[in-house]
Amino acid sequence: MSEVIPQPMDKECTVTGNIRMTRERVSVESKKILKNNRTVDVNQLVPIKYKWAWHFYLDACANHWMPTEVNMARDISQWKDPNAFTEAERHVIKRNIGFFSTAETLVGNNIVLSIYKVVDNPECRQYLLRQAFEEAIHVHTFQYIVESLSMDESEMFNMYRENKEIYEKDEFSMSCTDGIVDENIDIYTTEGLQKFIDNLVGFYVVTEGIFFYSGFVLMLSFGRQNRMPGVCEQIQYILRDESIHMNFGIQLINSIIAENPEVWTSDFQAYVVKRIRRAVELEKNYAKECLKFGGILGISEKLLGEYVEYIADRRLEKLGLPKQYNSSNPFPWMSEVIDLKKEKNFFETRVTEYQTGGALEW
Ligand SMILES: [Fe+2]
Ligand SMILES: [Fe+2]
Repeated sequence: MSEVIPQPMDKECTVTGNIRMTRERVSVESKKILKNNRTVDVNQLVPIKYKWAWHFYLDACANHWMPTEVNMARDISQWKDPNAFTEAERHVIKRNIGFFSTAETLVGNNIVLSIYKVVDNPECRQYLLRQAFEEAIHVHTFQYIVESLSMDESEMFNMYRENKEIYEKDEFSMSCTDGIVDENIDIYTTEGLQKFIDNLVGFYVVTEGIFFYSGFVLMLSFGRQNRMPGVCEQIQYILRDESIHMNFGIQLINSIIAENPEVWTSDFQAYVVKRIRRAVELEKNYAKECLKFGGILGISEKLLGEYVEYIADRRLEKLGLPKQYNSSNPFPWMSEVIDLKKEKNFFETRVTEYQTGGALEW
């Protein structure tokens, strides 16, 4: 049998082609976030160039949790008690569990069907695989909550099709995935790469960074009164996961822009701001609907709207874009609740101590 002679790596070869034997080793310098083709073997995690991606992966693994570890006994007895919640409070709880039970699947779908296809850097892919599993855990969480509380499964899991405000948020997110899945996107063109960045903004900044936050505030406010402690403990873990997802996503977006500065035109920046402003509108509509029977636990439609504007400004700043609202944070306790270790007795319930407890930027 003749010996296989190592050949120089074909830089034009696509990632779906056969592996070429070569003595040209992968170096840190040769790695990029996107467009690696065959200049980097698809599975070569090491040498690590993007240490931030690797550290996001390690932090995520250190924060592992499962919904079934959380005791739901008190939640079940409270939910069964006809006097434990007002009509407005029950509406808020059902609306948010309905929203999250299906919205989490959109994020997982987008990672697998869109982002993983385009981002071919191994360090980033390592984190994306971890994040995809976390999204499965989040989907599991809401299935577990619905089942534990004996909620109407059909009502909860069909809410995205029956409630206009949820439908519109999901439509916004899905429109970002469709553009990448349905079209033969060419990220070597400015237009194609802008479309992909629009996808990343639509998920990491909007879906995970804005669309989840009215729900987090509303649900966690029950936990502050030691009501629905199991649900709130799980949502607290999800909030922590989501803040890591969003920070990874923003770093990913900023790194892609740094490596491909031609895509970050003033027109495209204005487009991104417009999309985020539209997302804020949709989230405020959602908050208004959640509170249609009146404010709960000191949270009014007005304050929740200000909070949505406040977090949107924070996201815009992280992308290097101008603030749009200049609203102040009406719920400063939300910043503290993210840091689980510091606030481990926040809900006076059993809290799993994580290995990492440093305050996260969010
Ligand atoms: Fe999630
Ligand atoms: Fe997420």
